Amino acid sequence: MCRIFAAALADGQVGPVLKVGLKRLEYGGYDSSGMATIDQGKLKIKKGVGKLDEVDRSVKFDELSGNIGIAHNRWATHGYPSVTNAHPQVDCTGKIAVVHNGVIENFLEIKEELAERGHEFMSRTDTEVIAHLIEDYIKKGMDFLNSTINAIKELKGSYALAILYSAEPDKVMLVKNESPLMLGIGDDGNYAASDPVAFVDHTNRVIQLEDGELAIITPKSYKVYRISDQGLVNHNIETVDINVNDVNKGGYRHYMLKEIMEQPVAISYALNLQIQYLDVVSELVRRSRITYLIGAGSSYHSCMAGSYMLSQISGLPTIPAVASEFIQQFGKTLNPDSTVILASQSGETADVLKVASYARLKASTIISITNVVSSTITRLSRAYIIQQAGPEIGVAATKTYTTQLLVYYQLAVKLAKKSGSITEMEINSYMKGLRELPRLADKVLKDVREPISKLATELKDAGHIFFLGRGINTATAYEGRLKMLEISYIPSSAFSAGESKHGPIALIENNSPVIFLAPDDASRKVMLGNIMEIRARGGKAIVFGNEVDSELKQASDEFIGMPQINEMLTPIIYILPLQLLAYNTAILKGYDPDKPRNLAKSVTVL
Ligand code: G6P
Repeated sequence: MCRIFAAALADGQVGPVLKVGLKRLEYGGYDSSGMATIDQGKLKIKKGVGKLDEVDRSVKFDELSGNIGIAHNRWATHGYPSVTNAHPQVDCTGKIAVVHNGVIENFLEIKEELAERGHEFMSRTDTEVIAHLIEDYIKKGMDFLNSTINAIKELKGSYALAILYSAEPDKVMLVKNESPLMLGIGDDGNYAASDPVAFVDHTNRVIQLEDGELAIITPKSYKVYRISDQGLVNHNIETVDINVNDVNKGGYRHYMLKEIMEQPVAISYALNLQIQYLDVVSELVRRSRITYLIGAGSSYHSCMAGSYMLSQISGLPTIPAVASEFIQQFGKTLNPDSTVILASQSGETADVLKVASYARLKASTIISITNVVSSTITRLSRAYIIQQAGPEIGVAATKTYTTQLLVYYQLAVKLAKKSGSITEMEINSYMKGLRELPRLADKVLKDVREPISKLATELKDAGHIFFLGRGINTATAYEGRLKMLEISYIPSSAFSAGESKHGPIALIENNSPVIFLAPDDASRKVMLGNIMEIRARGGKAIVFGNEVDSELKQASDEFIGMPQINEMLTPIIYILPLQLLAYNTAILKGYDPDKPRNLAKSVTVL
């Protein structure tokens, strides 16, 4: 977890620059934040517990002097959130400062050895051992570069590191292994960060570091080395296309609301997927004996919906699976004839990357669907499709969920075309649905505003909320439930409506709120029966259904009308009011929807 940022400026104070970048990276962790700079050969450190703004109010990051510095947002893995455990972590001499994203697996052994040699540890973090290890080599007479290289060779685990050493005050040392890290090459200085959004207003020229590489940036230069043989590496500089306005709130109170409301635009971007990529991916899937669709959190829900799309549109059976369970559940069935499609908006989720490494060993085909082109997952994949949703900062996935669904839909239509399994007329009708989607999404977001804010007022004090769907909208029920519980903290459950009579119905009491997703599809009739069952037991049926369905409306306690669209696209339209419902409920309860407690945007630990 965590996000890191480093800057070496030709001129001026680095404190304010680091603060802006860190704010942009807050989605990666907000248990604590901290910075270190070097001024006149001395290391200066400020850090504190809590969100960046709170820490800044007490420590005043802007006042950090010096033109070179490193910064960190923490999501705790080793050691409780505290000032001592906040990064930067330093060595015994107070000359070396380290910020780290990742996990050092063998830190306890290293710590013991170093303690025996007299090193004193202040924190419970795995990161602190890195500062002491480097110190140990420096004591032996090595320079900063060689000490870092020797220290790194002792580490097992994942790490993106930025390191300062006050005796070599013009350098930031950067190291990458299994955690994202890239350099930003600017005219006013050089930068490095877990994500280019941190430095995008200084430069859009980026170098992607590879695992096993170390880079040194100074205000005027940069060098990249291979750690194994210390050879210099010549990377191409790429240009990243991120608009600064994309990463600000665009006038909305929260990123989550901004990202919900920009879905019509994100959807239209995702309709322009690159044809060649869809072509390659569909060909690989077509040749495969078996295809698994794998993801975590919301991305798993998109895989659930994706499996309905692939089977119903293109007649292709696929198996959706949760990333953290996949290896135990299906690992042994992988072979060169199988394909894994890994859906991960960040492309950095550790559970998903682990499946990728495993599938690699089994020589299976790896395909990814992600929103971040520079992510680790694209580098592990034989082919990938980028969702094109733009950066998503709010922790709860919204536009990246709907755009992932769109990728699956387009893949399914492509496969159907290739296999000739459906008629030209059917293909045209599926494509027509796609073209209507941005307009319908926009309409829904406007039409449901009022009813949803009323519903949020009714539900804000609920002790428990049920979400029931059928068919492809079972995935919508799961995703709606996840949104509600992760940002409003109201305990919620989701089931396929057919399952409700096999247990969940036992919980229904007078006025228990039950949300039904009941579009006009093959299961509408049985849904009507399920609604009756719940109401007969005193439950309150809040139904999302076709706006012209008067029978359904009559059968509901509350009814929210949705436009007609082909069944396979309903999950994209029906999740929109549920995202808004979760958002409004969180606001009414006084919670910050952009930073739900205990959660992080991308979970880079297993
Ligand atoms: C975290 C986030 C979820 C997200 C999941 C998978 O748990 O809080 O919102 O769905 O990771 O993320 P990915 O980047 O792999 O889609």
